[in-house]
Amino acid sequence: MSVTIRAIEAKDKEEWVNLWTGPNGYIEFYGSSNIITPEITNTTFDRFLNPNDPTYCNVAVNSETGKLIGFATYLTHRNTWTVEDTCYLNDLFVCESNRLGGVGRKLIESVYKSADELNCKNTYWLTQFHNHRAQMLYTKVGVKAGFLVYARPNNNYL
Ligand SMILES: CC(C)(COP(=O)(O)OP(=O)(O)OC[C@H]1O[C@@H](n2cnc3c(N)ncnc32)[C@H](O)[C@@H]1OP(=O)(O)O)[C@@H](O)C(=O)NCCC(=O)NCCS
Repeated sequence: MSVTIRAIEAKDKEEWVNLWTGPNGYIEFYGSSNIITPEITNTTFDRFLNPNDPTYCNVAVNSETGKLIGFATYLTHRNTWTVEDTCYLNDLFVCESNRLGGVGRKLIESVYKSADELNCKNTYWLTQFHNHRAQMLYTKVGVKAGFLVYARPNNNYL
């Protein structure tokens, strides 16, 4: 299968929402369907399209069918240790039937490229300890940064 990676566009909304909150989608993978309301989904999507908002999304498209098969969302933010902004890879997802074909790697590489274009000095992300599948990919495209993540008590997500 040949894949195109590109920035998300307004016409992608229905397919992106399906990968995000639909059956076997990203939010379901995290067991978080009770947290992500339509308001959050709509706000997040609108932010991708707002050139003044530091929220971005690259999508993977099956070149033969034109269908969305994955996405990477990322944010840029200030960092007290650098003059340049930093890029945080917030979400990464490839639909189940297209995994292990290099799409996840292509999406991360596209975020590296976008981060360079946005003049970000560093790119980083988090993963759950038990997400071994994702870590098989991350050890190939990144390095373990050596930090543990803490969160305010009663926060149910990051
Ligand atoms: C994590 C995820 C995005 C990976 O996407 P993917 O398209 O399957 O990843 P890739 O095919 O690009 O994998 C890249 C590399 O990791 C290796 N790899 C990935 N999963 C592997 C596995 N289960 N066993 C062995 N190697 C594996 C591949 O061999 C590949 O190496 P190569 O590029 O040198 O050939 C996908 O599994 C997914 O969406 N999972 C559910 C959501 C999730 O966990 N998101 C990440 C949250 S932090």
